[in-house]
Amino acid sequence: MEFREAVENRRAVNFFDPQKDVSDQQIRQIVETAAKTPSSFNLQPWSLIVLRDHEEKMRLQKQAWDQPKVSQAPVTLIVLGDMSGWQEGHEFVEKNFDSLVKMGMMAEDQHDWFLNACKNLYGASRDRQVAFACKNAGFFAMTLMLAAKDLGLDTHPMDGFDMEGVKKEFNIPDNYWIPLLISVGYFRSDKTLPPPKWRKSFDEISVRFD
Ligand SMILES: Cc1cc2nc3c(=O)[nH]c(=O)nc-3n(C[C@H](O)[C@H](O)[C@H](O)COP(=O)(O)O)c2cc1C
Repeated sequence: MEFREAVENRRAVNFFDPQKDVSDQQIRQIVETAAKTPSSFNLQPWSLIVLRDHEEKMRLQKQAWDQPKVSQAPVTLIVLGDMSGWQEGHEFVEKNFDSLVKMGMMAEDQHDWFLNACKNLYGASRDRQVAFACKNAGFFAMTLMLAAKDLGLDTHPMDGFDMEGVKKEFNIPDNYWIPLLISVGYFRSDKTLPPPKWRKSFDEISVRFD
């Protein structure tokens, strides 16, 4: 599928076909494509909890305004953003630094510089940590939805859920923010997709404050 076609055909789909499953291989493929998403300092502070068990999806649905698509889709993903994914000693921070050294893009003795840059940018306040987690995991989520569309799959992003409730239900540690949930499956062909919704024009998007 062409990029533009994927962008234009992706819709937030409310009804999923219960007869059409999504394989583990398809999920793996869209996640591996989404993993190409750029991130701050390449820190990739995103993770996913993949739910396909009906009882588990129902537990999530109860925390998500009881939105039926959470359990009707064959797979629903809890997208996680790691608010601590910039800290010294964090597995992926250190892996990232080692890889930059191996690629010759940083010297061993720049470890402190690298950690301080991350700390100043992303750790300065709770707001910065939430923004770090959400912007990166949000970009990841968007790539994932387009990757799904490219495979002919439909998705539905959701932020109508109780984050603390979801964290409690699935034992999610405190360092994670949950920017959204994404249901994945195939649109139910006996339902009608509403027409595409309005979008802001270039002139509405482009602003100045001087
Ligand atoms: C971060 C995010 C959260 C959303 N949360 C919900 C939600 O909880 N429930 C819902 O029905 N739709 C939700 N939506 C879907 C939007 O309403 C939908 O994407 C928007 O109206 C545009 O429609 P389209 O995706 O079909 O183009 C969400 C979308 C995004 C990007």
